Amino acid sequence: MSESIRSGAVGSAYLASEGNEHVLAEELGRLGVPVAAWHGRLALSPAPPADAHWALDRWERPELLPIGSIGEAVTLLRQRQRNWSHFPLLHHRRSALIASRLPPVKAAPLHFPASAPTAPLGAWTLLAPDRLLLSTAKTSPFPNGEARFVEDRTGPPSRAYLKLWEACARLGAWPQPGDSCLDLGATPGGWSWAIASLGAGVTAIDRAPLDPRVAAMPGVHFRQESAFGLDPATMDAVDWLFSDIIAYPARLLALVRRWIESGRTRRIVCTIKYQEPTDHAATDAFAAIPGGRLLHLAHNKHELTFFWDAALAEQRDAEAQRPAG
Ligand SMILES: C[S@@+](CC[C@H](N)C(=O)[O-])C[C@H]1O[C@@H](n2cnc3c(N)ncnc32)[C@H](O)[C@@H]1O
Repeated sequence: MSESIRSGAVGSAYLASEGNEHVLAEELGRLGVPVAAWHGRLALSPAPPADAHWALDRWERPELLPIGSIGEAVTLLRQRQRNWSHFPLLHHRRSALIASRLPPVKAAPLHFPASAPTAPLGAWTLLAPDRLLLSTAKTSPFPNGEARFVEDRTGPPSRAYLKLWEACARLGAWPQPGDSCLDLGATPGGWSWAIASLGAGVTAIDRAPLDPRVAAMPGVHFRQESAFGLDPATMDAVDWLFSDIIAYPARLLALVRRWIESGRTRRIVCTIKYQEPTDHAATDAFAAIPGGRLLHLAHNKHELTFFWDAALAEQRDAEAQRPAG
């Protein structure tokens, strides 16, 4: 363990998803965030929290505390707040004894449609038997960023629908009955299934045929063509534009910009799929879009999810034009 961490100076901690540790490390390097130590998938930095999109969870207010006993660790945690999630590293028996003396946190799988939990949730781990790292605040509302859902194992033709469910749960919003949606790169049809199951209308676009069971659902309309060939300016306006297309990030960025400029959608939720080496410059460009937000979701692989909201973009625009002072 490095000296800066021993002295207790942890300013932020970043949890990578499995297999994406190197991507998060690269991003932290680009942001100029020094990493003092990695503990499993958790990167500790002496610097304050930075906007690292590849973190599944970010610990906002870390404290590294010496503990003399299990009881002392429990007291330190309980003094601060009620709800804690444990990130397991080493020292399993000791950690289990601490966890058993903390109030239980209801981590039941979400029954979609539902928003992510809003109760304050902290995170803790033991870096050594006598060293407790805790944070009263973290960015993910789920324990260790792990969003879990009551799954539907018969309806959808692929498990990709979980990515859409997680995105909507984090957004706290999802298509409503009567909403119109576009689903780009829809095949085999998990996202379209999820949208149609909510009672919204969906036009599914893909070069490959949609699963016939999804194509036959009420409200689903399938067009077999390339999503890049669509001209938003000539299309009916939609409430939601969804995309899970396999495409280079830069190409998807151009498509997203075209849709935003057209004014033909109120919201966008799209998966950005990366190859090695990760195109961090494309991430920067997505992050710079006013009214946009990027998250690495538990159901993302080597992917980020981009969210955009026209109302938020207008608000940002108005703020930027207001005279200072
Ligand atoms: C990961 S799959 C989508 C899975 C889907 N969201 C689901 O829930 O089942 C990616 C899809 O992008 C489609 N795709 C790739 N290039 C495309 C293009 N130019 N236009 C439309 N679809 C495209 C592929 O055919 C593939 O079906």
